[in-house]
Amino acid sequence: MGYLAGIDIGTSGTKTLIITDAGEVVSSATVEYPLHTPRPGWAEQDPQDWWKGSSESLLLALRKANLRGTEIQGIGLSGQMHGSVFLDANGEVIRPALLWCDQRTGPQCDWIHETAGEDLVVAETCNRVLTGFTAPKIIWLRQHEPENYRRMAKCLLPKDYIRYRLTDEFHSEVSDASGTALFNVRERRWSTAILDKTGIDPSVLPEVHESVVPSARVSPEAAALLGLRPGTPVVGGGGDQAAGGVGNGIVSPGIVSSTLGTSGVLFAFLDEPLVDPQVRTHTFCHAVPGKWHVMGVMLSAGGSFRWVRDTLCGPERDVAANLGQDPYEVMCAEAATAPAGCEGLVFLPYLTGERVPYPDPAAKGVFYGLHLRHQRAHLIRAVMEGVAFGMRDSFDILEAMGVPMTQVRASGGGARSSLWRQIQADVTGRAHSTINVEEGPALGVALLAGVGTGAWGTVEEACGAAIEVVGRTDPVPESVALYDSCHAIYRGLYADLAARFRETAALFE
Ligand code: XUL
Repeated sequence: MGYLAGIDIGTSGTKTLIITDAGEVVSSATVEYPLHTPRPGWAEQDPQDWWKGSSESLLLALRKANLRGTEIQGIGLSGQMHGSVFLDANGEVIRPALLWCDQRTGPQCDWIHETAGEDLVVAETCNRVLTGFTAPKIIWLRQHEPENYRRMAKCLLPKDYIRYRLTDEFHSEVSDASGTALFNVRERRWSTAILDKTGIDPSVLPEVHESVVPSARVSPEAAALLGLRPGTPVVGGGGDQAAGGVGNGIVSPGIVSSTLGTSGVLFAFLDEPLVDPQVRTHTFCHAVPGKWHVMGVMLSAGGSFRWVRDTLCGPERDVAANLGQDPYEVMCAEAATAPAGCEGLVFLPYLTGERVPYPDPAAKGVFYGLHLRHQRAHLIRAVMEGVAFGMRDSFDILEAMGVPMTQVRASGGGARSSLWRQIQADVTGRAHSTINVEEGPALGVALLAGVGTGAWGTVEEACGAAIEVVGRTDPVPESVALYDSCHAIYRGLYADLAARFRETAALFE
């Protein structure tokens, strides 16, 4: 029996998952690290922490599975997208990496749109440039830290930096490259047009491959450090969303995933690149060779639920501690006592601004419609409903684009709550299915490693071996009708408040 490892370099920690070459999960381990916010709106991490997290979680996962590193026959890498790791000519990190959730680059996004022309940007990259993306981070470095910019010999995405540490080689793959705003997403290659217009030297970028390609091999030094076999193939892997798509089995038209993690992501497979005429969603290359995906990303989904747990749910946390339960379980049980629609209480989940459907860093969270009758149960449920309304916005956009959606797979932490699955089914009017595995991106890239090393012939075959639907939550017609009206109020509230959000931001940010 052979074994495959998937390493996912996330924002709160790195997770390594080991599976057999028959697709069965053997062990996993996660090592956490800090996120630094040296100024409001900034979000940075030390790439050295990612390397430490990757190597320690790999060693831990091997130990848990009672395996030797030499038994790993292929490695896949996934990670938070869009981040910038700036390296000098010796491969040393120049400064902390700017992350996907860093909001400092508004002026640089405007500059790229003006300099390259928004039409060219959309034609080449299938997206608008957003503050989280990589290109504006490079321009920021050029404008604000010219000394560091001059030293930059390479700019890598987070998981590609780990590949460099594992293999001594510079490579990327199409799904993560799609989120740089420097990539021609239709033609699956770096965009010479955008590189020319922005004056970014193409030599700072790594070579790009399809995600299943074993583009690099573990170096003798990394092999000695981790107990791996020198030369173990490392496949391209994927950005965490495309990798999560594979890990949820979203590898053919019609099956979509709705993932509530910190962010909320509706993810759909595409045979051909398809772009929302208003460019509200992201169209990127998929980790399935020659295929694409489209996704709507809301920034604070599980993030809103964590916020309500930490700020308002002290009593629920105490109860949970006494019962030895997860506070979220107690919160969900309490939320279930409030009626659908929360008697007019509506929550806007824009706690860290928003991306889809409104690319609005100034948007804010709101509880609307508070009444003396409202208890904490209503507040908790309103947050769950508000997140579902945000996801519904993405469903509506994909539907208008004509993206087929015959099966929705609920995933992420939010899928563990039967109440939240029911609310999502009722708000969208679509049944939400659950699958047998919860490992998301780490599983996705372990499967890609299996395809790249011959365990399976195709990504579809790999997913077929590992993933099956195990449950289904159907919408309740009366709730669907009520939530339709509540969603209209939710949409109206943003329209009414958008100018106020900007005023408030101008005053306090
Ligand atoms: C995708 C995105 C996030 C990050 C962090 O566009 O910004 O999913 O990859 O998870």
